[in-house]
Amino acid sequence: MPKQAAALKKHEELPHYNLESFWMPFSANRQFKASPRLFVEAKDMHYTTIEGRKILDAFAGMWCCNIGHGNLKVVAAIQRQIAEMDYAPPFQMGHPKAFELAKRLAKLMPGSLDRIFFTNSGSESVDTALKIALAYHNVRGQGMRTRLVGRSRSYHGVGFGGISVGGIVNNRRFFGSLLSGVDHLPHTHSLEKNAFSKGQPAWGAHLADELENIVALHGAETIAAVIVEPVAGSTGVLIPPKGYLERLRELCTKHGILLIFDEVITAFGRVGNAATAAEFFGVQPDMIVMAKGLTSGTIPMGAVAVDRKIHDAFMTGPEHAIEFFHGYTYSGHPVAAAAGLATLEVYREEGLFERTKDLAPYWENALHSLKGLPHIIDIRNLGLMGAIELESIPGKPTLRAFNAFLEAYDKGLVIRQTGDTIALSPALIVSKDQIDQIFDILSGIIKNLS
Ligand SMILES: Cc1ncc(COP(=O)(O)O)c(C=O)c1O
Repeated sequence: MPKQAAALKKHEELPHYNLESFWMPFSANRQFKASPRLFVEAKDMHYTTIEGRKILDAFAGMWCCNIGHGNLKVVAAIQRQIAEMDYAPPFQMGHPKAFELAKRLAKLMPGSLDRIFFTNSGSESVDTALKIALAYHNVRGQGMRTRLVGRSRSYHGVGFGGISVGGIVNNRRFFGSLLSGVDHLPHTHSLEKNAFSKGQPAWGAHLADELENIVALHGAETIAAVIVEPVAGSTGVLIPPKGYLERLRELCTKHGILLIFDEVITAFGRVGNAATAAEFFGVQPDMIVMAKGLTSGTIPMGAVAVDRKIHDAFMTGPEHAIEFFHGYTYSGHPVAAAAGLATLEVYREEGLFERTKDLAPYWENALHSLKGLPHIIDIRNLGLMGAIELESIPGKPTLRAFNAFLEAYDKGLVIRQTGDTIALSPALIVSKDQIDQIFDILSGIIKNLS
C-alpha cells in the first residue's frame, strides 16, 4: 500500500477524534482540538500527517531529533534491547549498557566532566544538577552556599528547581513562591545593539559582570551555582555575546561558584564541530545538563556530566553507605541506554558535528536572506539554530508568530513559535536543498502575514 494511502487508513482507524482527555502540555488546547495537527509517521527530515501530507521538519521534533527521524540503526538497537531486557533497577544494581553509555558520553565532554548521572528529561537533569551543586558545597563543609543564580529569559524545564532559576514569567507566576534564595542575571538580548548579528553579537560581554552585584549583595560564600543556557533556545535563540561566557566563567572561578551549562538544546552537535557548546565556545563549566539529542528524541533520557572533583567530594564515608540521596527509577534505563549508544554511534559514523559546522555558513546566509521582509525586526543564528523575530501585532503579543506557525503547517513545514519569534533547528542531516525549501516557504508566509 503506498505510504499516503496507509496513513489515510490509519486516520480512518482512529476512534474518530476524541481529543478531549489528553490535556496537552504547553499548548493552546482549545485551538488545537478545534483544528488538530496530528502526525502518524516520521522518516529522516519529514513527518506524515494523519491526512497523509508530508511535512518538512525544520525543528528536529522539539530541538531533539538531531540525527533525523527513524534512523534504522537506533530503531534496531531499541528493538533488540527491549526484547533482551526491558528493565533493570538502577539503585544498588545495574546493567552494562548504562556504564558503557556513561563512558562514551564522558569522552565527548570537555575537560574532566567525566562522571555521568542519568535522568529521564531535561527538567530532571536541571534539578539534578542544582541538587548536586547544593550537596557538593554541603559535603565539603560549605553548607552556607545555598543560593542559586539563573538568568532572565532562560528556560530550564518545569521542575520546581528549573522554574525557580528559569526566567520566563508565565512558567513561574502561577506556581507560588518557588525556591527561595534565587537571583537572576540579566538576559543578553538587545535589539538596539545587536539586531541582525550573524553568529555571536559584539555587544554585551559586560552583562556577565552583574554577577558581581549579586555577590556584593549576598556574599560569595552564600552562592552555590550559576546556571545558564550557553545559547538560550526556548526564548528565541539568544546567542551569547562575544566574551560573555568567558567572563561568567572567570567570575564564578573567582568566587568559588559552580558554573552549570544547560545544554539540553545545544548538546550533540547543534552549534557545530563539537558535541557541546562548552567545547565549541572553549569555556569549561563544572557541570553540563543534557537530554534531547542524547537519544535523538527516540526514548526519553537525560544526563548531567559532572566534574570529577565534584563527584569525588561525595566519595567519602563508609563504603556501604549511599553517597548521594538522589536518583530515578529509570536512571540509565536499558532501552534508553541502548538508544543513546546507537545515537552516539550515528553522530560519529555520519560525522554530524562536523556537518553542522560545514552547513552553518549556508544556513546563516539563507536565514539572513529574509532580512527586509515585512515585520522582521531581528534574525539570529549559530550552528544549525536560527531565529526570526517578528514585530508583535499591537495589543496581541505572540499572535503574529502563531499565525506563521499555523500557515507553515498548512504549507508543509514544522517550525516553532516562541513569543513573536520563529525558532528553527533542523536535524543535522538536513540538505542544502531542504534549507532552501525551508526559507522559500517561510519567506512566502512572512510576506503575506498580517
Ligand atoms: C535548555 C533547556 N533546559 C531544560 C529543558 C527541559 O527539558 P524537558 O522538556 O526534557 O524536561 C529544555 C526543554 O526544551 C531546554 O530547552
